[in-house]
Amino acid sequence: MAGRNVLVTGGNRGIGLSIARALAEAGHSVVITHRSGEPPEGLQGVLCEVTDTASVDAAFTQAEELLGGPVEVLVANAGVTRDQLLMRMSDEEFDSVIDTNLAGAFRCARRAVKGMIRARHGRIIFISSVVGLYGSPGQTNYSASKSGLVGLARSISRELGTRGITANVVAPGFIETDMTEVLPEDRKKAYQASIPAGRFGQADEVAATVRFLASDDAAYITGAVIPVDGGLGMGH
Ligand SMILES: NC(=O)c1ccc[n+]([C@@H]2O[C@H](COP(=O)([O-])OP(=O)(O)OC[C@H]3O[C@@H](n4cnc5c(N)ncnc54)[C@H](OP(=O)(O)O)[C@@H]3O)[C@@H](O)[C@H]2O)c1
Repeated sequence: MAGRNVLVTGGNRGIGLSIARALAEAGHSVVITHRSGEPPEGLQGVLCEVTDTASVDAAFTQAEELLGGPVEVLVANAGVTRDQLLMRMSDEEFDSVIDTNLAGAFRCARRAVKGMIRARHGRIIFISSVVGLYGSPGQTNYSASKSGLVGLARSISRELGTRGITANVVAPGFIETDMTEVLPEDRKKAYQASIPAGRFGQADEVAATVRFLASDDAAYITGAVIPVDGGLGMGH
């Protein structure tokens, strides 16, 4: 398998870190983005704030220097939640989630395709959520941001499919990370009961799907939404 140059946003913890480690183990050259401190042990990192275009562009330039060439695989994973009921949701709560999860992914994809078009090879993988297509009370901002990634991926697929570039969406269900750790116990139990697999997922299980989509074997898969959710979102 060809080792590719990979950039994983928000790869300092949670699902992003598992993805970065899985791709490095698969023989790719991996750089992660982080917002502060040092990168995780054994991984190269660049500072990046995905809500800031200049920061995204600078992070790509630095990553390309570390990798010795253009980014061939982008995993747009950085994301946040700011849950609130619709009637109480402020413009700021709505905008900040869209700006990070959707516009942040757009900024990274826009910068990434420059090198991918020249290389005539690219894999763009957006980390969405089951909530993007299933919906979730209290998460209108998050759900809208995550379903927006589907339109983004599908339009990129149609725009750049002939250039050897694929764009896909991975839609995890409930995965055990800091993001789900903060949920109240009774909500966690209710969610678990509604998941056909009867359990939350592990970050490694999302990483395995991303590893496949990043590989040369996945060249003919584009514009797809791949659930990794224990069956929670079936049909959505
Ligand atoms: N956990 C789940 O159950 C679940 C389910 C479905 C989808 N997802 C999605 O999977 C992705 C990763 O989730 P996770 O559970 O691993 O979350 P997490 O543990 O909270 O990590 C989020 C990552 O995103 C980074 N990030 C957030 N805002 C950013 C910004 N403005 N600029 C740059 N980086 C930023 C964080 O950086 P800092 O460390 O600096 O904060 C961190 O690295 C997210 O897109 C999330 O929506 C998660």
